[in-house]
Order: sequence, then structure tokens, then C-alpha cells
Amino acid sequence: MNARELKKIFVDFFVSKGHVEILSASLIPENDSTTLFTSAGMQPLIPFLLGLPHSQGKRLVNVQKSLRTDDIEEVGDNCHHTFFEMLGNWSLGDYFKETMIPWSYEFLTKHLHYKPEQIHVTCFAGDKDAPKDMESHDLWRSVGIPEDRINFLPKKDNWWGPIGAAGPCGPDSEMFIDTHPELGPIQLTSGDNRGRIIEIGNDVFMQYNKDTKGKYVLLSQKNVDTGYGVERNLAIYFGYDDDYMTDIWQPIIKKIEEISNQNYPNNLVPFRIIADHIRAAVFMIADGLETSNKEAGYILRRLIRRAIRQGKLININNNFCSIIAQAVIDNQDNYAGIYPELNENKDKIFSILEAEENRFRKSLDKGLNEINKLIVRHRKEHGDVAISGKEAFDLYQSYGFPVEMIEEELKKNNLSLDRAEFDLKKQLHQQLSQTLSAGKFKSGLADHSEIITKYHTATHLLHASLRKILGDHVQQSGSNITFERLRFDFSHSDKLTDEQIKLVTNLVNDQINKKIDITVNSMKFTDAQKSGALAFFGNKYPEIVTVYKMGDFSAEVCTGPHIKNTSELGKFTITKQESAGGGKRRIYAILE
Ligand code: ALA
Repeated sequence: MNARELKKIFVDFFVSKGHVEILSASLIPENDSTTLFTSAGMQPLIPFLLGLPHSQGKRLVNVQKSLRTDDIEEVGDNCHHTFFEMLGNWSLGDYFKETMIPWSYEFLTKHLHYKPEQIHVTCFAGDKDAPKDMESHDLWRSVGIPEDRINFLPKKDNWWGPIGAAGPCGPDSEMFIDTHPELGPIQLTSGDNRGRIIEIGNDVFMQYNKDTKGKYVLLSQKNVDTGYGVERNLAIYFGYDDDYMTDIWQPIIKKIEEISNQNYPNNLVPFRIIADHIRAAVFMIADGLETSNKEAGYILRRLIRRAIRQGKLININNNFCSIIAQAVIDNQDNYAGIYPELNENKDKIFSILEAEENRFRKSLDKGLNEINKLIVRHRKEHGDVAISGKEAFDLYQSYGFPVEMIEEELKKNNLSLDRAEFDLKKQLHQQLSQTLSAGKFKSGLADHSEIITKYHTATHLLHASLRKILGDHVQQSGSNITFERLRFDFSHSDKLTDEQIKLVTNLVNDQINKKIDITVNSMKFTDAQKSGALAFFGNKYPEIVTVYKMGDFSAEVCTGPHIKNTSELGKFTITKQESAGGGKRRIYAILE
């Protein structure tokens, strides 16, 4: 079986169940300015999931070109891709769980020929918004899945959608394959992973609409929305633990081997990134996109540039994107023969890739110059002190210089880089771009960087509060912020009692209620330490630092940014604590 056959088996199965095959929509959403890309088969169908009648009926099936850039940093492993094809079938207010789950089972066992004992499933555990999905559980039991291969998981694993802030969504039931049943029984413990048990498909029971206030309201109709990633399913079907071994990718991988004179097994990451990103770029351009400095065009630019940088790592120093693009298009069975837009836009694809590559190579040369200027300047002013993460991040941002290349240049000059600070800056920036690609444009970029900033400020309050309640042995050892929560690691060996959690929470909220202004001052690092400002990242600080203070309550050396007044934070709640290993605790908290 190749990819083309897999798609055919899926489509034929659902056509035999009364579905009509619809064409893949464009990767660039046509009537929806809230999202940058089509990221799932259901996306072009949103109006119909909400109740509008579809001209082709209530049962649809297709193969949808999809693009997700929220995991772009994961590309390079064995299974993450930006562009991918998604197999999906839909019931628009027609059949529901009682029909879908037996079909899923039939498809997996009779058409993909998985053994019943290889199949694990998950169902929604229930919460304040929707009940535990016992119906799906009972249906899986009735087709023959035993209790110990059905797992109930919370919303973060078993709820799908909406895309963006509002829209149709619902509890889902995910299907997993045990790739090594011969090793004996195994329990699935969490959601998606790429261990022995791998997720291959998802049945979403789209019954709710999340409104703009965040409330889940029942839709007027019950829908089914399913999704199976072609790349992943093909790899698992053949027992590869690397998606890139399949016929979808091999012609592209071979082409990269040819032009780099290197082999794939020794260069997995650069090969995968190049193959993935150029394939995505080909499809984006074929659907009408051009490179630019904003929105979707900027993502296209980033993909091409990332591919070029990876090319440098395997010694490809001449323009090569068009050659790889040609290999993508020429894959007759998977691409040219199926998506006529590829051949029709061939010239445009090549010319956009060439232009971007020429531009970027010039920019890299310029960046190299800038690094060398920075080195000379830095030497003169600061001697051997490490280059700050901010300076490196600016270079990375302006010239697209990979940090490894910056470090290499510094090393040649016996200088080092504050890598921790660089990584933090990059992480904050990434969260911002994720929001962009998740299509949360409407509410604006500022809103989201604001959430991150708020969590960052809350982290300082939490740090100070923990020290006041638990003692001065508490030192921050790590922090991670998303749009939904903060995570804070600190030195403390015992589990916090409920009473301690309450005291810490109240202390943070007291500072919020006191409406304290946050002030910032630059000073010498040694003076900051003398003044009692917290600074626990060893000797990684530059000579001059900024200190953020909230009255007498908190003072920390930090690069910011922070909000202006604690009253902007809302209500602080600790949602979870756990051990972070090695005498450290980890706290999760949210702001509402
Ligand atoms: N829309 C669902 C998904 O993308 C099926 O997983």
C-alpha cells in the first residue's frame, strides 16, 4: 500500500457508507479572515457544523490539505510535520456516536487490518462544561474493546476545538495502535505520544459551540468530525518508527542526499526539516501565497529560511529549494497526479523560492558581518563577559541567524553566549508566533503578549510569596509560561500542605488587591545583589542589569517585560503542584 491507496481505502469505505467525497479546500482559508491556514478538514465546514445545509448532503468525506505551525519547533523528529494531509469524514447533524464508533472499529480492523488487541482508545473524562463520555465508552466496549484499553482523559487530551477562540467543538475519542503487541499487555497512560502506542485517528463529537465569552453551548445539531493524518498512518501501517521512510517522503529525502552528498541516517534533523518545510512551501505557494513580512506570508518566509539554514548544516551552500520543490511536485502518485495546482503553478513556485533564497543568502552574509562587528564592540566594552541573550536574539531576529551559528562565530573569538537568556527570549517569541498561526488575529497580537507578560509578573509575586511562607531556601529553578497558565519550579523538598497553598495564594492575591506599581531600574549586578534583589541564575548575568520591583514585596533581576500595576492581574489560583524531582517542587497557576 502506498499513500494514494491509503487515501482511497478511507474514501471508499465512507462512500460505501453513503458519504459524498468533497474536494480539498485551499490551504489559505477563503472566507475566514480569523485564521491563517486550513489546519483541519473540519475548518472549511464550520458553517455547516453550525447548521447551514451543505449542498452535497449530510455525509461527507475527503482528504484535506492542512497546515499547522504551532509545533514548528518539533519538526525534525520522526512524526511532526507542518503541512500534512488529513483524512476525514463528517456527519452534519446526521448519525452520531452509535454509528461512528462501530465504523471506526470496522475501518481499523477490516480495512487497515489491525488486530483488535492492538487498539486502545480514550474518551472524555467530563468536567464542569460537559459530562463524562460514558456513551463512547459503552460503544467501544460493545464492539469488543476491553475495559483496560479504554482510558478517560481530561479536556486537554480529549476535547477538540474550537479553532481560534470560538466555534464548534466537542469531546473526542482518540484511537491508538499498539505497535508492538508481541511485547505483552501495556497500559496507555496519557494522550498522544510516539512511544509504543501511537494515536492514529480521532472521532470528535461536535455537539458544542464555544462562544466568545468562553461558554460551551449545545449546538442545534449533533455532528461527527473525524481526522486521520496520512503521513503518520502510512508509517504505522508499515511498522516504520519514522514517517520519512514512507513513499511520501523518500523521493524528497533521496533528492536531498543527492545534492548534499550526505546520507539521511547521519543527518536526520536537517533532512527532515528541509523535506517538511519545502513541501509545505510548495503547497502554500500553489494555493496563492507569496512571501511577506506579515501573517501567512511571513510563515512561508520562515519555512523557506529555516530550510536554507538546515541546508547550510549539511553543506548545501548554493540555491537548492527549487530542486527539492521539483522532487515534491514530481511525486506523481502522491502529488502531481492528485493536486493539479502544483504543476499549474510550477513556475511561480520556483521563482518565489529562488527570490527568497537569494534574498536570505544576502541577509546571512550581512548578519555575519554584524556578528563580527558586535564581537569587536563587545570586546572593547566588556572584555570576556558573555554576550547577552538579548543581543544574540536581536541578531537571530534581524538576520535569521541560527543560534548555533552565532555561538560558532563567538567561539572562534573565545566568547560565549548567555544561552539561557537567549532561550527565554526565543520561547516568549515562539508563544507569540503560535498565537499568530493559531489564527487568533482578531483579538490582536497585543492581547496575547499581554497575557504572557501578566503571567511573567505573577511569577515574581509567586516567587516572593513562596519565600515568605516557606522560607528563604526557596529559589526559582525554572519557569514556563503559556497563554493558559504559568509553571514554576523551585527548590523545596516537601509537598506543600493545603494550608500553605492557601497562604501563598492569598498572599499573591493580596498584592494584586493592593494595586502595587511595578518599577524598573538599571544598576550594576553587584549593586542589585546588595540591594537584595533575587537573582538565581548563577553567574549568567551581564554587568548592568534591570531590577523589577513591586513595592517592598518583590525585587528581582529580570529582563522583563512586566505589566504596570499588579491590579491588572485579576485573580490568581494555584491549580496543581507536583514534584519536579531532585528536591524541587513544581506549581501550576492560572490568572482569571
Ligand atoms: N478535527 C479533528 C482533528 O483535527 C478531527 O483531530
